[in-house]
Amino acid sequence: MKLTYLGQSAFHLQTGDHQLLFDPMIATNPMASHVDLDTIDADYILLSHGHGDHVADAEYISKRTNAKIISNFEIVSWYEQKGISGHPMNLGGKFSFDFGTVKYVQAVHSSVLPDGSHGGSSGGFVIWNNSKSFYFAGDTALTLDMKLIPMTCPKLDFAILPIGDNFTMGYDDAVMAADFIQCDKIIGCHFDTFGYIKIDHEKAVKAFQDAGKELILLNIGQSTDL
Ligand code: NI
Ligand code: MN
Repeated sequence: MKLTYLGQSAFHLQTGDHQLLFDPMIATNPMASHVDLDTIDADYILLSHGHGDHVADAEYISKRTNAKIISNFEIVSWYEQKGISGHPMNLGGKFSFDFGTVKYVQAVHSSVLPDGSHGGSSGGFVIWNNSKSFYFAGDTALTLDMKLIPMTCPKLDFAILPIGDNFTMGYDDAVMAADFIQCDKIIGCHFDTFGYIKIDHEKAVKAFQDAGKELILLNIGQSTDL
């Protein structure tokens, strides 16, 4: 799997012949001004919840690429009204797609769409296929429900967790989350984009190191093979 960070919680993932895009907010993110929205390809766009910093570019990219939206029922219905096709899910459910199995799991957060429409329940995704298994947490507080993930899903190879604090868990809680999900390789997201979520990178990395875990902070536009 090849993972590319696109800023805030936006990631592009290449797995086999398939391209997944997570929570795209790129055009309106000044920190991602060097990323060209028109070069981003996707077969599926996965949206963890309805907040603008996660869905901002989903309509534009899905109309250009014909990518299908995967999210909760309320968000997928909202996009279907715009003529965009999707696959609705809800918390606790899993489905086998051509690229792998997706389980939509609990996040402790809120969710409303940019026009004020109800954004359903906020969630995250556990995704696995023959190559790897990983967790994209979306926006969430630390929650004991994370302990269900290793009990119900294949062993995680890596996880993408929010670490910026204020709107989500901070990196200290994320260290505990990594324990709950039994995963030692964490990719951080949802930090530095706004003043409220600016973090000290060295302290964040050290907090994970001290717990015997690895925190990877990708630069925006940087890719890594996992
Ligand atoms: Ni949010
Ligand atoms: Mn957010």
